[in-house]
Amino acid sequence: MLLHFLTTVSASFFLLLVNNTQVSAQSAESKATTALNTLQDAWYNETSGIWDTCGWWNGANCMTMLADFAAIDKSAIPIVTHVFNNTYVVAPAVNPAPGIEKMNTNGEPHTSYPQTWPHHWPGYHGHPGQVNASAWLDGYYDDGGWWALAWIAAYDITKNQDYLQTAIGIFEGMTAGWPTNCSNGGIWWSYKHDYANAIANELFLSVAAHLANRVPNKAYYVNWAQKEWKWFQASGMINANNTVNDGLTLDCKNNGQTVWTYNQGVVLGGLVELNKAAPDSSYLPAAAKIAAAAISALTDTNGVLHDYGCEPNCAPDGTQFKGIFVRNLQALHIVAPQKAYVRVIQASANSIWRNDRDEGNMLSVDWAGPFLNPANASTHCSAMDALVAAVVVH
Ligand SMILES: *[C@@H]1O[C@H](CO)[C@@H](O)[C@H](O)[C@H]1NC(C)=O
Ligand SMILES: *[C@@H]1O[C@H](CO)[C@@H](O)[C@H](O)[C@H]1NC(C)=O
Ligand SMILES: *[C@@H]1O[C@H](CO)[C@@H](O)[C@H](O)[C@H]1NC(C)=O
Ligand SMILES: *[C@@H]1O[C@H](CO)[C@@H](O)[C@H](O)[C@H]1NC(C)=O
Ligand SMILES: *[C@@H]1O[C@H](CO)[C@@H](O)[C@H](O)[C@H]1NC(C)=O
Ligand SMILES: *[C@@H]1O[C@H](CO)[C@@H](O)[C@H](O)[C@H]1NC(C)=O
Repeated sequence: MLLHFLTTVSASFFLLLVNNTQVSAQSAESKATTALNTLQDAWYNETSGIWDTCGWWNGANCMTMLADFAAIDKSAIPIVTHVFNNTYVVAPAVNPAPGIEKMNTNGEPHTSYPQTWPHHWPGYHGHPGQVNASAWLDGYYDDGGWWALAWIAAYDITKNQDYLQTAIGIFEGMTAGWPTNCSNGGIWWSYKHDYANAIANELFLSVAAHLANRVPNKAYYVNWAQKEWKWFQASGMINANNTVNDGLTLDCKNNGQTVWTYNQGVVLGGLVELNKAAPDSSYLPAAAKIAAAAISALTDTNGVLHDYGCEPNCAPDGTQFKGIFVRNLQALHIVAPQKAYVRVIQASANSIWRNDRDEGNMLSVDWAGPFLNPANASTHCSAMDALVAAVVVH
């Protein structure tokens, strides 16, 4: 992988990365750069377009994190634009179930992780200059949402219209999940239409609101985002403590399932974007309420973020969650700053670097430490979201 990068990235840029790893008292930027180098060197797979040791949807989050880093550190642009270019063309071939929205599925759609990758899938390869949103859908509306946000983030860096058009197409795919049978609104989790949960709906809000700020037909997306937020707020998923549970029961009540960090996060970024697209004095206070409740429920006495519901055995999904929360808290902080957000972001980033990192600069699952061997691309990308946020928020 490293050799490949030497061919695509200028030699002087590579030397800069090497030098950075040797600096002992590192700046926040150089820590993130060091971690980026580790991520690409250890795990980015040029053939699959995602990162070995993490799953399909996790890959979208690694890509979003790369774009966020490039937005604040121009030295990362060569690496991240290479990833966007390559991933756009090759990753559809490792999508566990591309185009499944057009099929008549009976069972639960399957998602995939390295151990279960269906290498028998014939594999659709993308083409530069061609948009095929269907290639990014896999039967789970939330997985589509992650890729839509990833391509929007890549569009923000490159202004490549194909990326934006891909996100637009993925969003259309997600609208097929609307409505659930709870209050005639919201989207289902998967094409099986048997679970109304928080993450798919928060992503639907966030993708719609992000698109509203980037496309000519803004009103269409503002309308979806407003409809979704109205439904979500009344759905019962936000509990009496102002934290968000995992989803609803079949009779449409809060199911009391785990308060995961990411479910406190995606809604924050969604409301920030919606407030930008169609300002309303209630959006940011609603976001601040959820953020405060999440910080109170999910940080330790040092201010370090945790998924108490799974650490240290978070399985391939849960390893991704904390970074998603921090990324969205950063977005909220930019428009409505609070000292409490700075504390969580800085405490988490500092603790990751001090307590949750091995000699090879790999980052693991419990940000308070100790380092849990082996780290993988999911634990590493997630922790990198905190390193990136720490560059911006201080
Ligand atoms: C990279 O991805 C390809 C395509 O999915 C796969 O066959 C290969 O095993 C992966 N490489 C590693 C080192 O996992
Ligand atoms: C990405 O692709 C575009 C168009 O195909 C090309 O102009 C650009 O140089 C590529 N960037 C990188 C870093 O490979
Ligand atoms: C778009 O992607 C789907 C799913 O991968 C594939 O079946 C279809 O052939 C692609 N369409 C085009 C026009 O390439
Ligand atoms: C609110 O938080 C308290 C204290 O952590 C907990 O005991 C209670 O179950 C929570 N209530 C809800 C509705 O989640
Ligand atoms: C919603 O649909 C599911 C099955 O699809 C059913 O079990 C459930 O009772 C329905 N809930 C309501 C409130 O209609
Ligand atoms: C990544 O590491 C975490 C924490 O050690 C583990 O729970 C998870 O299953 C690993 N992911 C994969 C895809 O093996």
